[in-house]
Amino acid sequence: MEKLKIIAIVGSLRKDSYNRQLALTAQKLVGDQAEFQLLDFTNVPLLNQDIEFPAPEAVKRVRVEVKAADGIWFFTPEYNHFFPGVLKNLLDWLSRPVSDSEPQVLAGKPAAISGITPGMSGTGLAQDHLVTLISFLNMDVMNVPRLTIPNALQQVNKDGKLELTASLSYLDKQVQSFLKFIRSRK
Ligand code: FNR
Repeated sequence: MEKLKIIAIVGSLRKDSYNRQLALTAQKLVGDQAEFQLLDFTNVPLLNQDIEFPAPEAVKRVRVEVKAADGIWFFTPEYNHFFPGVLKNLLDWLSRPVSDSEPQVLAGKPAAISGITPGMSGTGLAQDHLVTLISFLNMDVMNVPRLTIPNALQQVNKDGKLELTASLSYLDKQVQSFLKFIRSRK
């Protein structure tokens, strides 16, 4: 059986992002059950229709990576009860057709969503907005389970690194569910 490819999209550009660390924890849990790579979109420019065609090199690259994936897993922070603008910008680029003959690359892709915040909300509101957008883009959203982790600082070790305790089994459950969800769509 060919190995599944999962691309993780982290909605924070911050080096020590808790959401990035959560994605890296998921990568460890996935282990050799699938390929699991974080999408680097730091150099994707702000969308401006004046530069849409031909697409900038960074946009071409992320489109190729997303197109090759069997599933996309979002790890999103919550900014003002929404998902961050950098993620909206990336999704706006990905929402556009690749060319006259090639449609956008997100349609039909299985998608999972997780998020972590030092606050109380667990990113639930941001996730709901993200579901609205990616459903509009015809992604195949796994709504259950989603993972919302509040109070991130309760799961940070003495070196300031995320070390999941209470949430680890929930993340593992989401890993197994997403692998099964993707396989059921093949
Ligand atoms: C935040 N933060 C935040 N947290 C939250 O739980 N609900 C919210 O609405 C907001 N709003 C918000 C707005 C802006 C502009 C910033 C910069 C931050 C705090 C946020 O959860 C915290 O900074 C996280 O650590 C961001 O995620 P990463 O970068 O750690 O992945």
